Amino acid sequence: MAKLPPLPRAVLFDAYGTLFDVYSVGLLAEQLFPGRGEALAQLWRDKQIDYTRLLTMAGRYQPFWQVTRAGLRFAAQRLALAWGQQAEDQLMNQYRHLSAFPENHAVLGELQRRGITTGILSNGDPEMLAVATRSAGFDGLLQHVISVHGVQRFKTDPAAYALGPQTLGLPAREILFVSSNGWDAIGATWHGYTTLWVNRTGAPLEQLDTEPTRTGTSLRAVLDFFPDAAPAAASVPA
Ligand code: LAC
Repeated sequence: MAKLPPLPRAVLFDAYGTLFDVYSVGLLAEQLFPGRGEALAQLWRDKQIDYTRLLTMAGRYQPFWQVTRAGLRFAAQRLALAWGQQAEDQLMNQYRHLSAFPENHAVLGELQRRGITTGILSNGDPEMLAVATRSAGFDGLLQHVISVHGVQRFKTDPAAYALGPQTLGLPAREILFVSSNGWDAIGATWHGYTTLWVNRTGAPLEQLDTEPTRTGTSLRAVLDFFPDAAPAAASVPA
């Protein structure tokens, strides 16, 4: 009989865009700068991630909060917006207090019911993640909140992904890593995790000759990894 791959024994989630819905940031951007909101939100996000890579490659870590503000300032200048401290503070404050995607509470609650260990593995710094977790109402639903701040290197650096297995005491392939960012799902796959790419927007797969273990369209796809009748811990061979 063919040997089945082991069921994941824990789930680690990416934070921004995966657990926390950044949509509200785009709405506020549109209110503040009518007709430019979408461009601002998109460029902000791209520049924020661009800076994480730049800083990690150069060995010059800055906390994600700082990087996020830097990305916003760049995007505002690039779009030649009439910028001021008030708009910056409003947008940063919105980013700090994000809501969860609608299905996320139910999925985390169901994982808890099935006895699965869950956590976050994020580029966010610990303070940001603590506020966001509270704002989104996830208190008590996640056992681990792991920040790359400890290693001062952002994903997709191997040192960042290594924090998952180190913290959970499990090999990467027994951890399901879930991200809505295609590049993050690929980075975790390279690191050996079992992966789920939650592709909510119909984005194309990163063309890097690697595919995530599975792709879904909402966080509910996480539950398909864990048959309800057999809690993961009990069904993993000794
Ligand atoms: C994070 C960003 C990349 O939470 O979404 O790590």
